[in-house]
Amino acid sequence: MTRPDADSAAQAHMDFTRSLSYGDYLHLDTLKAAHRPVTAAHDEHLFIAVHHVSEVWLELIVRELTLAMDQLGAGITDAPLKGLTRVVRAQEQLTQAWEVLKTMTPADYLQFRSAFGQASGFQSAAYRMVDILLGNRTPVLLQPFAHQPEVHARLDAALHAPSVYDQTLRLLAARGLTVPPEVLGRDLSTPAASHPAVLEAWLTVYRDPTTYWDVYELAEKLLDVEDNFRRWRFNHFTTVQRTIGMKGGSGGTSGAGYLQRALGVVLFPELWEVRTSL
Ligand code: HEM
Repeated sequence: MTRPDADSAAQAHMDFTRSLSYGDYLHLDTLKAAHRPVTAAHDEHLFIAVHHVSEVWLELIVRELTLAMDQLGAGITDAPLKGLTRVVRAQEQLTQAWEVLKTMTPADYLQFRSAFGQASGFQSAAYRMVDILLGNRTPVLLQPFAHQPEVHARLDAALHAPSVYDQTLRLLAARGLTVPPEVLGRDLSTPAASHPAVLEAWLTVYRDPTTYWDVYELAEKLLDVEDNFRRWRFNHFTTVQRTIGMKGGSGGTSGAGYLQRALGVVLFPELWEVRTSL
């Protein structure tokens, strides 16, 4: 008599008439239904897949950033490091996606470009939320969401709430370091400009990491996040340039020129400047 093989595939659950299967749990039918090319062009599948994957990572980043920011707001400095590390890893996945998309040539792209009209990543609510949570405060960027009042309201609320860097500066102040009231009380819908007193506060931290270890570690983690954000933007810019050259974007901007200017956005100014001053 042969004994049943405990490691055989035949031992797996096979009947899903009464319990959730993998596809049910993940709503794979819905996921696949969202993949709807509008042309017969082979590369449109790649274009849609990379955008979908990127949106999923961006949503995850929003969730992780929001939790980390709630924790920072409550004065907790260790737990947010876990969430921010996950953000950094997810950003790496986002940046890697350009490597797949770059296999699409300008001729491939032109086979379906006219099909999506004025649609552009410029109208990505998840990206814009990440941008805002990290501190890029540019109200005009919310206008493409006016036709979606709930989305617009969420972005607008974030635009008027502290960024992850604002919360970090509040923590510095709570540690007794000098962060001027005009910095802590600034109009949050405007970008954080570099301030000499904040640079001085970071210098204190970076000159004595042992005393200020938790905020020092947090600052380095934030730098990882901005570093990776820059890498994504740079790869987007070069991918756009190699695909459409200097043509205008589907979203109505000048295209590569607009993206090149966006490379100049600095989210955590004093964290970059402190390196020079040390
Ligand atoms: C070959 C593929 C792509 C091209 C040619 C392209 C082109 C562009 C252009 C020209 C812009 C400037 C706005 C405008 O449309 O006028 C833009 C913005 C943007 N794109 Fe793409 N894009 C591509 C792929 C992607 C992918 C895969 C994503 C992933 C989500 C993405 C996300 C974005 C975002 C978030 C913005 C706004 C950036 C900002 O305002 O800082 N793009 N894209």
